[in-house]
Amino acid sequence: MSEEPGRTTRRFLTPPVRQVHQHLCNRMERLGMSAHIDAVGNLRGLWTPANATGKRLILGSHIDTVPDAGAFDGILGVVLALDWVQIATDLSLPLAIEVIAFSEEEGVRYGVPFIGSRAVAGTFDNKILAFEDSDGIRMDEAIRAFGLDPTKVGEAVIGEDAYGFVEIHIEQGPVLETEDLQVAVVDGIVGQSRLGFRFSGHANHAGTTPMHLRHDALTAAAEWIVCVESSVREASTGNDPGLVATVGKVAIKPDAENVIPSQAEVSLDLRHMSNRTRTWWCGELIHKARDIGQKRGIDVEYVVNLDEGAILMDKDLSLRLAQAVKDARFPMKSMPSGAGHDAMIMAGCVPTAMLFLRSPGGLSHHPDEAVREQDVEAALRVGERFLQRLATEVR
Ligand code: GLV
Ligand code: MN
Ligand code: MN
Repeated sequence: MSEEPGRTTRRFLTPPVRQVHQHLCNRMERLGMSAHIDAVGNLRGLWTPANATGKRLILGSHIDTVPDAGAFDGILGVVLALDWVQIATDLSLPLAIEVIAFSEEEGVRYGVPFIGSRAVAGTFDNKILAFEDSDGIRMDEAIRAFGLDPTKVGEAVIGEDAYGFVEIHIEQGPVLETEDLQVAVVDGIVGQSRLGFRFSGHANHAGTTPMHLRHDALTAAAEWIVCVESSVREASTGNDPGLVATVGKVAIKPDAENVIPSQAEVSLDLRHMSNRTRTWWCGELIHKARDIGQKRGIDVEYVVNLDEGAILMDKDLSLRLAQAVKDARFPMKSMPSGAGHDAMIMAGCVPTAMLFLRSPGGLSHHPDEAVREQDVEAALRVGERFLQRLATEVR
C-alpha cells in the first residue's frame, strides 16, 4: 500500500491510505469494533466489553511513512494494538479500548508532523489547514479530496473518558539489540526542533562569472551544513551528549548544471532531551548560518516549523507497563526515545506510556527496517500481562 511501486511511501491522505483504512477496518470489524474516520483521517476503532465502566484505554500509532520507508515504523503499533484488543476479548476488562491509526506523524507532506495526534489531543492549529504540499495542494483541500470535512477537526478530540494512551513502536535505534533485549518501556521522548532555511544569492552564468564575483546560494548552504555536522558532533561528545542535528532536505533554484544557484532551501532537524540545550543550539546554528551568509553576500532567512518540547511518560501507567514486562518474564529496561512519536502529543492530554520492540541492526527510516517474530511475540505477552493487570486493578 504505497504511492510508489517497489517502495513504501505513504504520505498523509494519499490514495494508499484508503487501502490501509480498508484493511484495518476489516480487521476491526472482525474484532467486533465499530470504526470511523475522523476529520483529519485518523481511523478509530472502538471495542466495548460488556462490563465497561465508561473509561477507555487508547492504543495506537501512525500509518503514514517517510519516503522509501520500512514496513514497521508506526503501522506495527497499530496492528499490535488490534492484537491487544483480541487478547482483551478473553479478559473481563472494565475498560473500552479505542485503537487509533493516526493519519500523520512524520511531517513529510506538509512539513508539520503529528497532524493526526494533534487533532486527537486538541492541539491542532487551524492555521496549518492553509499549508501547501509540494504540488500546491492546501491541507484543507487534501482533507476534502479524501471525503472529509476540515471544519470538523475539533470533533476529533478525545473526551474526559480517556483512561490512558499506550503506543507500541519499534525502537528505531541500536540500544536493545546491543544489550540483547527484546522490549523496553520508554521513560521520555526528546524534544525536536525543525527549521527551514532559505539561502538567497544571485543566479548567473556558470561559464562567464569569475569565482570571486559569485553569490552562490548552494555553496553557502553547503558550508553551513558541514558546520552543523561538525559543531553538533563535537558538542555531542563533549558538553551535550545525545545532541543530534540533521539536514535531510535540500532544494535549489534554478537547479541547472550551467547556472550558479540563486536559492538553496535546506531543513534542520535538531533534537535533545533538554529543552534549554535544544533552544540554545537552534540559536547558535541560526547565528552560524547568518555569519556564513554575510561572509558570502548571501541573504539568510529561516522559519521554525516545529518546536516540540521533550516530555516524560506518565509514571503510573509506565510502572504498570514495566510490571507487565516483568510478569511476562523479560528483563525490564527503561530508556528515552530519540525518535518523535504520537505519544509525545498524547502525553499532553492523557496519561501516556510506550513500549519499544528491538530494531534489528538499529535500522529505521530505511526499506531494510525489520522486526523479529520473537519480539512481536514478546509484545503480545507483555500486552496480555498489562491487560490482565488492568482487568484486576482498574475499577
Ligand atoms: C519520526 O519518525 C521522527 O522522529 O522523525
Ligand atoms: Mn518515523
Ligand atoms: Mn514512528
